[in-house]
Amino acid sequence: MLKVLILLLLAAVALLPVYLLYLKSPPPLPEVDLNAWWGLGEPKEDTAITPYNIKFTQPVIKDLKDRLKNRQQFTPPLEGVAFEYGFNTKTLDSWATYWMEKYNFTERENFFNQYPHYRTKIQGLNIHFIRVTPKVPPGKQLVPLLMVHGWPGSIREFYEAVPYLTAVSKDRDFVLELIIPSLPGYGHSEAAVRPGMGPLEIAVILRNLMQRLGFQKYYIQGGDWGSIISANMATLFPKEVLGYHSNMVAILSPTITFFELLGSIYPPLVVDSKLADRLYPQSDMYSFLMEESGYLHIQATKPDTIGISLLDSPAGLMAYILEKFSTGTCRDFRSKIDGGLEIRFTKDQLIDNLMMYWTTRSMTTAMRLYSEGFNKRYMSLKMDEIPTPVPMWALQAKHEITYLPPWLIKLKYPNLIKDNPIDYGGHFLALERPQMFSEDVLNAVQAFKQWHKNSNVKTDL
Ligand SMILES: *[C@@H]1O[C@H](CO)[C@@H](O)[C@H](O)[C@H]1NC(C)=O
Repeated sequence: MLKVLILLLLAAVALLPVYLLYLKSPPPLPEVDLNAWWGLGEPKEDTAITPYNIKFTQPVIKDLKDRLKNRQQFTPPLEGVAFEYGFNTKTLDSWATYWMEKYNFTERENFFNQYPHYRTKIQGLNIHFIRVTPKVPPGKQLVPLLMVHGWPGSIREFYEAVPYLTAVSKDRDFVLELIIPSLPGYGHSEAAVRPGMGPLEIAVILRNLMQRLGFQKYYIQGGDWGSIISANMATLFPKEVLGYHSNMVAILSPTITFFELLGSIYPPLVVDSKLADRLYPQSDMYSFLMEESGYLHIQATKPDTIGISLLDSPAGLMAYILEKFSTGTCRDFRSKIDGGLEIRFTKDQLIDNLMMYWTTRSMTTAMRLYSEGFNKRYMSLKMDEIPTPVPMWALQAKHEITYLPPWLIKLKYPNLIKDNPIDYGGHFLALERPQMFSEDVLNAVQAFKQWHKNSNVKTDL
């Protein structure tokens, strides 16, 4: 009898992968309201697209400097501690002084405005975006690419990449036109006034933005929340999204978790041995996530409470955001007294990004995305378990928080064109390695175009 039971159990275990891979049917595509109204007042269409400028006004600068100057004396770090307990306050003092005394607000404002900015009302919210349209020589096709940032990043992450991305090359028959929006609730885009603006709803907003600009079909690029929003766009609008380039591949599904766990017994079952250390031992991965994701739990539950402090204190905002740039760029930077921040970035670059949050007082509304994305409502849609035919390209940096082997990515993206697991780089890749990042995006678009050419149906622009 016992033998029979054991045999049945073994059969069940052996059949589980078969079930997960071949028999389980995907969840249905959710119904989305393409016209949901997120602003104040009655729905009223307004299709104007208005030029916009980033302004650091004198009152805002003065108030910021006053607050930095009048900051409380920071609690000294524990002896021998670098970034392990959070942002090292010895280092923070020099950053606060730089922001107050050296950061050239006029020059940085000009820097921000080197690309054309606009705002337009989508579903009741003023949505801010940069649009860079390069001059196209005869014979080259202009191809739209939507670039989607995340938290605690901003449009600023893409600035250094723009010249590479929009360059004209004899090796390509196309030139990229870039649309770089601020997510709703981030920076210069207005925030929803009622609950529910999650990654699915932002996907709809950005899709409607592209429609507003006259783009029926386009490519998308995303990292962090941008990759999750882009994934939703690809899933909801597979006829509009021509290809999706991601520099953070995070797919939450029981099937993937099952195979990752299975791989703990014998990693080569799941992952190329050269990359096994990105997933195994799983205990390392999970303890890293435990140590580093406290912010996520706070923001997914009580964003408004922590938001009050971050809105009131530029030093607090700075520590909170820059700590993420330290660990996100390389987890070993936690053992550096300065968090290794200036190894890959300059003070100006990182403070520019802070300015997007500080001057617009958008930290609370930005953090709410976690509450709207890690709740039952969104999770129960199981978006990551709905396969999409949109061609996909995965750029997986060494120090990114997530990693997935290509065969598991294909469960969601059967048309994965390429997996590029580079052995350097971190979470903020566009800002950290603008040239390499841009070349990879351009290669992806080139490959997507070729894929469309090879497919029988006319699917390209
Ligand atoms: C700040 O930048 C502006 C514009 O580039 C420049 O005119 C000014 O001299 C700079 N100020 C300082 C103190 O360097």
